[in-house]
Amino acid sequence: MAITHDGATRTSNAKLLKWVDEIAALTQPDHVVWCDGSEEEYQRLCAEMVASGTFVKLNPEKRPNSYLACSHPSDVARVEDRTFICSVNKEDAGPTNNWAPPDEMRAQLKELMNGCMKGRTLYVIPFSMGPIGSPIAQIGIEITDSPYVVTNMRIMTRMGSKVLEVLGSDGFFVPCVHSVGAPLAPGQKDVPWPCEPDIGRKAIVHFPETREIWSYGSGYGGNALLGKKCLALRIASSMARDEGWLAEHMLILGLESPKGEKTYVAAAFPSACGKTNLAMIVPPKGFGNWKALTVGDDIAWIKPAADGTLRAINPEAGFFGVAPGTSYDSNPMAMESCKANSIFTNVVLTDDGDVWWEGMGVAAPAHGIDWQGNDWTPDCGRVGAHANSRFTAPAAQCPTIDPAWEDPAGVPISAFIFGGRLSKTFPLVYQAFDWNHGVFMAATMGSEATAAAIGVTGIRRDPFAMLPFCGYNMADYWGHWVKMGQRTDIKLPMIFRTNWFRKGPDGKFVWPGYGQNMRVLKWIVERVNGQVGAVESSFGLMPRYEDLDLEGLEFSKGQFETITSINRAEAISEVEEIKTFFDKFGAQLPPELEKQRQEFGKRAEKAPEVWSVAEAA
Ligand code: OXD
Ligand code: MN
Repeated sequence: MAITHDGATRTSNAKLLKWVDEIAALTQPDHVVWCDGSEEEYQRLCAEMVASGTFVKLNPEKRPNSYLACSHPSDVARVEDRTFICSVNKEDAGPTNNWAPPDEMRAQLKELMNGCMKGRTLYVIPFSMGPIGSPIAQIGIEITDSPYVVTNMRIMTRMGSKVLEVLGSDGFFVPCVHSVGAPLAPGQKDVPWPCEPDIGRKAIVHFPETREIWSYGSGYGGNALLGKKCLALRIASSMARDEGWLAEHMLILGLESPKGEKTYVAAAFPSACGKTNLAMIVPPKGFGNWKALTVGDDIAWIKPAADGTLRAINPEAGFFGVAPGTSYDSNPMAMESCKANSIFTNVVLTDDGDVWWEGMGVAAPAHGIDWQGNDWTPDCGRVGAHANSRFTAPAAQCPTIDPAWEDPAGVPISAFIFGGRLSKTFPLVYQAFDWNHGVFMAATMGSEATAAAIGVTGIRRDPFAMLPFCGYNMADYWGHWVKMGQRTDIKLPMIFRTNWFRKGPDGKFVWPGYGQNMRVLKWIVERVNGQVGAVESSFGLMPRYEDLDLEGLEFSKGQFETITSINRAEAISEVEEIKTFFDKFGAQLPPELEKQRQEFGKRAEKAPEVWSVAEAA
């Protein structure tokens, strides 16, 4: 049967036309549709998915223009075990990535993709990561057989005909092929969430040298919305290394002082550290009229500008946030962002046509339909929303979105912040002595392993929060950061580490977190602007009790001491554990990082048994 094409006339880019023809010949869809990104197209696809059972239209009075999708139980998260970096040489993928020989992987993909779109429509999605035409942005073209992906990509990226205009007849694009891996035989009825249920047959594949992405078998999140983790982090990190910039798993936040001075920071945290909450932080009431404005919640692309500042853009246009735990208490701005025009995945459908999830901060409905399509009541003994259920919401709907969030030139970054979830040893906040020390702090960050996952170290390291997202050898990535610090044409931001999660002797968190983290951010801004002092510890430069603005918060000197004191034995054991971690990287480890480890060791040895800020100040 001849494949019908719709909209291919939108581009004269010969390379693009040829590639789409090749993929269509391989995957054999019934139709090819070139997406224009229009509202009409979005509404049409939503209506088709309501008709096919993929989407439930939510009650427009409660949640205007919004939909719920529930996935197949085998397809609920990113599949890290089936994510590959297929560089030509294995060493270039490094010890933290899955690698397969590119030729073998290409042969496997050809086999998997052969006829995989039979009975379906192949959509061509032109998208821009970053404001269209920004010198920091990149164009990708995703081919997918999932209308759910098309609608999510329309929220998460700038998508459609305008991108093809900027691409022109010979512009560069990252080709991204995606299939849910569920061809339909003639007459076969489709299911609401088609996918390949066998995890072993799913594959999320990156070819960093040729800048290609191929994804088979999953329709969920980062496995399928290929602009996000695949392009904006794995492929972009590889581009950034080659071209002298940074593609990072970082939020971008603008902090405005009562005098109207703006300081932008970029911050990276492993999962479950409240990254989205920090990205949309609301300063505590009465906190001196400071404002926090969001540029991005997940990814930052950062390039040196002619004046030496590092300018960052958020390559995304939407939030793909974890629903459970998001409430008007924990993250009011995220709640506002998904009030309308949003897609929800794997949450509870209430009887009045709205959504609900655990930790939403409102009473559970007496009855609802859970993410697996079953009747659900609060006492049924099961959670209603999947732990990794999501909202896809337009970033422009965030009430505190920064006015410069779409500035094609990006915003100037003055500080990098790295964090982790650690119950002991690590102080609330500390600043790096210099760039390489900061790179060391970021390379060794991580969160405490949960009981089941405790390995040799007790800390699951997630360097720069990039463990699953670095598109090349992690040690080379650290080397790239070291090299950026050696450049004389860049004004280097200061580097900080935070730990909101230190516990007291009673096993409870001492620092209140959430909006109160603004107090720590204020100290960081004041450090950047040279307005406040710091005390030297073995970990780094730290605030005294009186340096933190604690006005209006009951937080005693004793509590401050509990989360800032440094136990010498614990510090020394951290130095040793880092050695075990670094050993994994062999000769690739930049010598600057081992030097930092040794210097940390010397400082730790020299420190008193229990170091306290008050005594050192
Ligand atoms: C995400 C992640 O979904 O980091 O953003 O896993
Ligand atoms: Mn992320």
